[in-house]
Parts: sequence; structure tokens; C-alpha cells
Amino acid sequence: MSDLAGLFHTHIADRLRTAAEALAQTGFETLVISSGQVYTHFADDQDAPFHPTPHFAHWCPMAGPHHLLVVRPGQRPRLIRYAPEDFWYEQAPLGSPFWASEFEIEEAGTVEDVWKQLGTLHRAAYVGNETDRAEAAALEPNPELLTAHLDWYRTTKSPYEVQCLEEATVIAARAHQAARAAFMAGASELEIHYAYIQAAGIVDHEMPYGSIVALNEKGAILHYEGKRKEKNGAVLLIDAGAQVRGYAADITRTMAAPHCHSRFAALIAGMERIELELCELVKPKMPYGDLHHQGHLFIAALLQESGILKAAPEEAVEMGLSRPFFPHGLGHHLGIQVHDVAGRQGSPDGTPMPPPPQHPTLRTTRTIEADQVFTVEPGLYFIPMLLRPFRENGLRDKFNWALIDELTPCGGIRIEDNLLVTASGHRNLTRPHLPV
Ligand code: GLY
Ligand code: MN
Ligand code: MN
Repeated sequence: MSDLAGLFHTHIADRLRTAAEALAQTGFETLVISSGQVYTHFADDQDAPFHPTPHFAHWCPMAGPHHLLVVRPGQRPRLIRYAPEDFWYEQAPLGSPFWASEFEIEEAGTVEDVWKQLGTLHRAAYVGNETDRAEAAALEPNPELLTAHLDWYRTTKSPYEVQCLEEATVIAARAHQAARAAFMAGASELEIHYAYIQAAGIVDHEMPYGSIVALNEKGAILHYEGKRKEKNGAVLLIDAGAQVRGYAADITRTMAAPHCHSRFAALIAGMERIELELCELVKPKMPYGDLHHQGHLFIAALLQESGILKAAPEEAVEMGLSRPFFPHGLGHHLGIQVHDVAGRQGSPDGTPMPPPPQHPTLRTTRTIEADQVFTVEPGLYFIPMLLRPFRENGLRDKFNWALIDELTPCGGIRIEDNLLVTASGHRNLTRPHLPV
């Protein structure tokens, strides 16, 4: 058995255990998960790039739509593989993948036959987007309570999942290095993006999310998707990942060219220190919200030291003065989904745990526990629409507007690493492969 097959064997044993627990808690006997059907654009015959149902990817890294996985406690899981004969699209044969021995594999040549082969099941839940077929087969589609349990268990990563995430990191780190070299040579956003995907060895739709390649002021648009052709930027903010067997790396770096405004270059260095300090604080039992709050305090201190804010860090955070500069959450769980599930779930049954009113954009309110994987991604941006109200309200004297106006064309800063929580602390999955 290869190392990967061994890790996968343990991963499936974990899945069987947690699925049995979820089924027992929610009154179902069987869990059916489909890889899903493709999304076809309205009034068109073109499909969107296919993304498998995340719960299916959690069990099986097989690509393609319409496969069904059938899980019954105490039994080996069945995999009904959709394997049509087709001359329009390539249909790769199954071969002998490392994961195959974990399943009873059957094949069906049509979608109808996949569902016929499923047979009649009692008290069966279905997870996926083929809900019409599921209802016709008397399965209960996407029961909320069961899905909440399955999502909850997805926040604890198995060693197999960590291996996938690390492999994705190796690819993304290589591509980030190529992007940095392209930027330093004066490349445009489009050329930097090309350098990234070429080094990663992928095409665009194989990325876990659209790359954010932002020169100068565009760095202040949090999910900037443009790819301009103008060269010789002063600042690059690049947020881009890679995926392996469905698991994503999500990495951001911000860097300055020699002609960058020196005070903005100093802010980048300060944010680099802050990101590393925040990572150092990660350990079990700490509420993630506390880490986020600490991020605001560190950023407020940097803003004060830099002469941008005229308030002590505690006072600045208390008054909401750091929020226009750092308007997003410090991070999120990471796994099959880039913004992975259950970050705001208080328990396996789906009890919501909303963020506190002063941090409404926080994506995880969970307590940090061993085997979670999440991002730490503090940001500092000059976003005119968020700063504007402060120019006009009673707090305007707390800001150095001349300096803010000078730095606004530089955009923003975000530094993002991916952390695995261990029993006593954490392991930074990103830095060993991408030190800067
Ligand atoms: N790449 C999106 C994010 O960092 O959350
Ligand atoms: Mn992220
Ligand atoms: Mn990111």
C-alpha cells in the first residue's frame, strides 16, 4: 500500500465513523452523495466548469458528474461510477487509482442506469444537486440537520487531507515565486497571472478561485478580478492558490518594487511582521475571534506608528477606526472549499454562532482546535468608500488625511498563510515552501 493509499484508508475509516454518528443523530439509515450535475448556462449549450459536490470530494477524489456514493454504517461504501461511452467529450477510464480499494465500485453507462442501480433504500438521505432524481428515488434531499453534522466533521482534517493541502501548497508556492519574479521584472497583471499559471502547470479553471493579481490601487479591491496590461507597477498584491485532489491552498503576498513609496513599503514590512506574530499566537482553545481582535490591535498600532491614525491602538479599535483599513475577517477554514464550511457553527447540529457586532465580516467564530486548518490573512487597505464617512464625521481629526491621500494610489496589503492546528500549537503549511 502506498503512503497515500494508507492515509486514504484511515481517512475513509474516519468518514465511516463520523457518517455513522451523523446518521444515528439524525434518524437516517443510509447516506447517498452524488458528485452532482453540471451547470449549463441559461439559453446556451455551454457548461460552467464542473465542481463536484464538496461532500462527495470529501469521500472520493474521482472527477466528473453523476457518480453516486452510498454509505451504510458497517458496510463498505458503494461507488456507482457514471462511465458513458462518448465521442463529444473525453471519458477517461478509471484505471487503478490509489483510492479504489476503499469502495465497491460498479459502473453505469447512463445517468438513468446510475439511479436504477442505486435500487430501493429506506430512510435514506441524499446530498447533492440532483434533487429531482433523488426525490423520484424517495430519498430525502439535503436534510439540514444531517448536512450540518457532515459540515461540522469537515472542519477536522485527517492526515490525508493535510497531505492534499500540502501538495497544493507546493504548487502554489512555486507559482507565487514565478509571479514575484515577473512583477520585479516589470510585468503587467496579465503577464504576472500567466507566469503564475505556467509555473503551476494548470489552466485557469483548475485554480481553486480566480487569481487576484492587483497592481497599485487595485489592491484595495478585495476580490479584484481584472488583468490589466499596463506594466511596471509599484506594488503587487497577489492572492492565488492551487488545488490537489479537490483541496485548496489560499495564499497572498504583497510586495513593493524599488520605486514604491517608501512609507508604503514600510507598511508592507510592518504587515509582514504582524502576520507572523498572529500566526505565532495560534494554539488550541483560543477563540478565533480573539485572534481577529488582536489583529485589529496590531494593525491599529502600525497605523499609529506610521502617523496615519492619531489614536492609541485600544482606543482606535474601540472607536472602529481600524475597521475601514481592515474590513474583512482575519481568516477562514480551508479545505475542499476555499471558504470552508462550518466556520460559524456552534455545534454539530448547526446551532449558528454569528460574529460579534463589531466584527461582522468574521468568517469563523469557532474555538481553535487541533486538526483544524484555516487561513491567517490580516490586511491593510486604503479604500476610498470606507474612509469617506470618517473624513466627514466627528472622528476626522484622528486621521492624517494628507498621508492617506498620498498612500491611496498604492492600494492595499494582505499577507495570507495556511495553518494546521496541532495539539500544542500550530504548523504553518505555507512558510516552509514560501518563506516570503
Ligand atoms: N482568496 C480569497 C480569500 O483569501 O479569502
Ligand atoms: Mn483566504
Ligand atoms: Mn486568499
